[in-house]
Amino acid sequence: MWSSVVSVAFLAATLLCLALPAPAVAAARSTTLSVLSFGAAADGVTDDAEALVAAWQAACRVPRATVLLPSGHRFLVSPVTLQGPCSARLTLQVDGTVLAPPDMDSWPKPRRPLQWLNFKWLNGFTIQGAGTVDGQSITSLQNSSPANAPQRSTGHWHSSGAKPTLVRFYSSFNVTVRNIRISNSPQCHLKFDSSGSIKVKNVTISSPGDSLNTDGIHLQNTRDVEIRSSSIGCGDDCVSIQTGCSNVHMKNVVCNPGHGISVGGLGKDNSLACVSDVVAENINVQNALYAVRIKTWQGGVGSVRNITFSNVRVANVATPIAIDQFYCDRGGARCANRTGAVAIAGVAYRRVVGTYSFQPARLACSDARPCTGVTMVDVRLSPAAGAPGTVAPLCWNSYGEARGTMEPLGVGCLQRSNGYAMPLTQPFNYTC
Ligand SMILES: *[C@@H]1O[C@H](CO)[C@@H](O)[C@H](O)[C@H]1NC(C)=O
Ligand SMILES: *[C@@H]1O[C@H](CO)[C@@H](O)[C@H](O)[C@H]1NC(C)=O
Ligand SMILES: *[C@@H]1O[C@H](CO)[C@@H](O)[C@H](O)[C@H]1NC(C)=O
Ligand SMILES: *[C@@H]1O[C@H](CO)[C@@H](O)[C@H](O)[C@H]1NC(C)=O
Repeated sequence: MWSSVVSVAFLAATLLCLALPAPAVAAARSTTLSVLSFGAAADGVTDDAEALVAAWQAACRVPRATVLLPSGHRFLVSPVTLQGPCSARLTLQVDGTVLAPPDMDSWPKPRRPLQWLNFKWLNGFTIQGAGTVDGQSITSLQNSSPANAPQRSTGHWHSSGAKPTLVRFYSSFNVTVRNIRISNSPQCHLKFDSSGSIKVKNVTISSPGDSLNTDGIHLQNTRDVEIRSSSIGCGDDCVSIQTGCSNVHMKNVVCNPGHGISVGGLGKDNSLACVSDVVAENINVQNALYAVRIKTWQGGVGSVRNITFSNVRVANVATPIAIDQFYCDRGGARCANRTGAVAIAGVAYRRVVGTYSFQPARLACSDARPCTGVTMVDVRLSPAAGAPGTVAPLCWNSYGEARGTMEPLGVGCLQRSNGYAMPLTQPFNYTC
């Protein structure tokens, strides 16, 4: 297989030919379209969005084409939508640096985008390369001074509305994201919505630990996901799994710093939530608030089922193991206890080992709907050196069994009933 960087002249010819059936030879070779051939200034200052979109549109029509952002160049790109449907096996090769407008998150609301690189309606698409996608956001509280960013010093981001997600896929299938680095997002770094058959491999995500709401990878309504051999550091959830997700497999993932791997918050405002079949194995979480967490609001319907966390190594994590069915992020009436809850059934923690700084495990399940089928096998957690004071583990309405080593002993505080799990006292009012 060989690649050719297409000149403007050849490209013009290609474009003219597009109305005609593509020559057979074009399908056999892979065609590489560099944004430089589409007028990109590549100086990190001039907006290259038009060049990127033009290259995309041309490549989209050619089977197995590659849009190239070459190394040694910096491309400033204003928010764009790169959409399909496209010919099969389109690749975006990011070898250079792609920069978001530095002040994107402070644009006035009507202009502020919900996402910066918005990919949609793609099937069989890959982003790869040795390059970096940089959101250029300085949301770190330390890095912002009241003089140049008055609203940043308060931390009240919510009041000014949603900030953009950096890279987002919508309604896309068979998508691979590999090798690239994604950094400094104003909000979520990499999001998949209403998508499926997703692979994320060897990706590095980095943002400061005190940058607000900067999830690493965010999944919603997305099935069949594999996240492997990646390193994620951010100010919020390392991987966030929301309603409508199933068959999500994470392996060899490092989360440092951040809030760890999180299923939820689910069931907000009495909504329906369904998450099932999640496996996280060989996970290394450091300097984080949680390692593996499931959080649901009071109220809500649906279920979280068949979740396995195995071989989780933690270092200096406040609360490594957490189920919080009383999740509430702002107080007030929203936080009142309700009669309904998203049911949690079938959660396994196998070999969770390392150090914590606050509480080794906190399983706070709802009064309305206890957690069932919780399994703990070989959990060994000890206080981190210099932890100011720790709290004993908590099991509240959590049913299941503990086997193997439990350290401290209290982490295996699960309640037993019928030997294994308490049968549900109420039928599910919604089956996912
Ligand atoms: C998925 O996409 C890859 C690369 O784009 C391609 O090689 C593969 O054939 C696709 N698989 C399916 C099932 O579409
Ligand atoms: C992972 O990505 C980095 C950065 O792009 C690259 O240098 C390295 O070769 C990749 N590793 C594998 C196994 O692909
Ligand atoms: C639990 O989820 C995993 C991961 O998707 C899957 O392989 C397994 O078959 C599921 N188990 C059950 C009992 O559904
Ligand atoms: C909700 O219920 C839990 C468990 O019974 C209790 O600890 C908590 O105080 C209650 N919260 C409110 C706001 O009533």
